[in-house]
Amino acid sequence: MPIAYAPPQKRMIVAASILAADFGHLADEIRAVDAAGADWIHLDVMDGRFVPNITFGPAIVEAVRRCTRKPLNVHLMIVEPERYLAAFAKAGADHLLIHAEPSTTDLYAALSRIRALGKKAGVALDPASPIELIEYVLHLCEIVLVMTVSPGFGGQKFLPEMLPKIRGLRRLCQSRGLDPVIQVDGGEDRDNAGQAIQAGATAIVAGSAIFGSGNYPAAIVALRQAWPAPTTITIS
Ligand code: DX5
Ligand code: ZN
Repeated sequence: MPIAYAPPQKRMIVAASILAADFGHLADEIRAVDAAGADWIHLDVMDGRFVPNITFGPAIVEAVRRCTRKPLNVHLMIVEPERYLAAFAKAGADHLLIHAEPSTTDLYAALSRIRALGKKAGVALDPASPIELIEYVLHLCEIVLVMTVSPGFGGQKFLPEMLPKIRGLRRLCQSRGLDPVIQVDGGEDRDNAGQAIQAGATAIVAGSAIFGSGNYPAAIVALRQAWPAPTTITIS
């Protein structure tokens, strides 16, 4: 049966992923995407263990914090994220997203800890992970992030197999009376962002589509075209 919902924010949230930014001019890049209209700044923290790539830690989050007042949407792709939550909170993260997969993490406890730190809690799912993995922690999450590429690198191709998962997640939220932000991450562009929104996502992460364009404001406007009018969305 089709379901209809009205996302509270009434428009698509665009999170600019700095993984695709020029790190030699990071402050300028942050100010540029802020001025270009990005809603959130997405920061990919990678440890070379949970994913085969290493990026940065709390010191860079703290540096980014000094460049913008936009919410910092911090995506932790690390093992044992519970060890670093306080450090990232102190560095200025507004949202802390942890993955559901690391088997040594007590997901319930870690999400509760993020909330206790006064931050918005989010859970992220790898492409292979089913939504059942988060069924009993969904009520603790203000954001659910669905990876639409294998985590670790920017510039990969969007996986269309994730669209049914987004629809299933939207239905699960609806059946529980919950309305977290459903954020999609990986390979988003002006074409597939619309598919993700129609499947039930309300926020998209875009790295290459923004920083790889020559014109950040135009790239963000192009992504926003994916949000349909009126603001109630029906999925089949
Ligand atoms: C991948 C990261 C993504 C990445 C997206 O592991 O979680 O946030 O930066 O970059 P694009 O938009 O280039 O796929
Ligand atoms: Zn990410």
